[in-house]
Amino acid sequence: MLNQFELCSAPITAAAYEKCDSIVLFLCKECAPAVPQLELPVEAAKAVEAYLAAHDDVYDVGALTSFVLPTKGGLLQLIIAGCGEGSDCKPNNFRKAAGEAARALHKAKARQAVCAAPILLNPQRGFYAQAIAEGLFLGGYTFNRFKSEAKEAPLCAVKLLSSAEDSAKLVEVAEIEAEAVCFTRDLVNNPGNVVTPQVMVEAALAMGKELPLEVTVLDEVLLKDRGMEAILAVGRGSENPPRMIALQYNGAGDAPYTAFVGKGVTFDSGGISIKPDDNMGEMKDDMTGAADVLGAMRAIARLGLPCNVIGVLACAENMPDGRAQRPGDIVRAANGKTIEVVSTDAEGRMVLADGVWYACRLGAKKVIDIATLTGAVIIALGNETSGIVANNDELVEQLKLAGKYAGENYWQLPALPECREAIKSDVADLLNSAGRAGGVITGGLFIGEFVDKGLPWAHIDIGGTSTATKTEGVKVKGGTGFGTLTLIKLAGML
Ligand code: BES
Ligand code: MN
Ligand code: ZN
Repeated sequence: MLNQFELCSAPITAAAYEKCDSIVLFLCKECAPAVPQLELPVEAAKAVEAYLAAHDDVYDVGALTSFVLPTKGGLLQLIIAGCGEGSDCKPNNFRKAAGEAARALHKAKARQAVCAAPILLNPQRGFYAQAIAEGLFLGGYTFNRFKSEAKEAPLCAVKLLSSAEDSAKLVEVAEIEAEAVCFTRDLVNNPGNVVTPQVMVEAALAMGKELPLEVTVLDEVLLKDRGMEAILAVGRGSENPPRMIALQYNGAGDAPYTAFVGKGVTFDSGGISIKPDDNMGEMKDDMTGAADVLGAMRAIARLGLPCNVIGVLACAENMPDGRAQRPGDIVRAANGKTIEVVSTDAEGRMVLADGVWYACRLGAKKVIDIATLTGAVIIALGNETSGIVANNDELVEQLKLAGKYAGENYWQLPALPECREAIKSDVADLLNSAGRAGGVITGGLFIGEFVDKGLPWAHIDIGGTSTATKTEGVKVKGGTGFGTLTLIKLAGML
């Protein structure tokens, strides 16, 4: 749920603070001397001055220092939100600090808040306002659809003070972007009995009605017609049949299309190669890639970005059953290559094999796939950084830059020739698993085998970043929506 904040940007004047019950001061060390220029109410200005004179730990990124000040108009809550020091004072610090501040405002049941930051005295720094707005919306996210007695925070009107002319526009953009990320999070946080492949279809169709997105759905009959046996094999053991969904957005005439292809495994039990039962429930998040793509397409269309993008959601449920695919099976993907199924738990790369192929048939000239593909990426890179495997360094640089704008970290792993060798099968063209060694790379390279030769392609493994185990900064425990914002920012760079 996004709606607890109503944000607008306003000029930095003393009058802007009238009637507010809360003030958040976003502060990095270098900016502290400029606080007097923010025209804070006297009580607040005094409290800040006195506190800063005696304390040096207020600048830690995301640290909140709170005061309750008696004023003529009643009690005023003042929060200093730390945004770092030195050259470290990046927009992402403000995003994180705003995430923390959002929860503090909700907790205090603030109704009228003002956000002020010395950095926004600079008319060239409107993008910091955007980062703060994104942080407020993302950090304030809650998912309580299934709580019988939901405790919603009251709606809070926030004035974000800025001297930058583009702030108003950028705050609007931030709201659209954050809404898309929260849309992704909602899909991820809903369990497997709620979000099935068909529910992904309905979400896409609903979006197609509202926005300039052309939606195509392939059900199991059409998948069969197209020869997409890989995604069909994955879905065979489930009562909820697979779906391939495409959303086409044309915002740049006849410019070439870039495709975003997401893994949409709505629940991954492992299939016949069944997973151990501890934390298996977490595998409801195995459709994060597809949700990212849907969320990104939503924002791209709402913003009317000047680019041409195709979103493909490769959706299936991976369940064990009498009809399920077995280890040892050999299936032929839509591009004609045969796959020896070593593990039915390596299902993501199979749905994506047909997904990236389909994106190419729809005319994509560049392909980016995004997937909770491996547990190995957690071992390699932890839970803050997503892995990239690609055939094109320029595309990787673009992705990393988009990630920087989004506050999402990426690390490229090498497309090693020995990993390419490792996925060759004795009896078929490819193995769907080469075991643990180089697991992120072999998984990525497998998918690359199904992209048309010569096209730039990058694979993003969000196995470690799709879900957060604790609430911190812009992340709220549960689905993070990691990837959505990167794809939106990337679309803005196309
Ligand atoms: N969805 C999982 C990957 C995953 C597991 C992500 C745990 C995050 C946390 C994927 O389908 C899978 O099961 N991958 C296997 C691949 C292996 C069989 C080659 C894995 O990582 O163990
Ligand atoms: Mn799996
Ligand atoms: Zn999976």
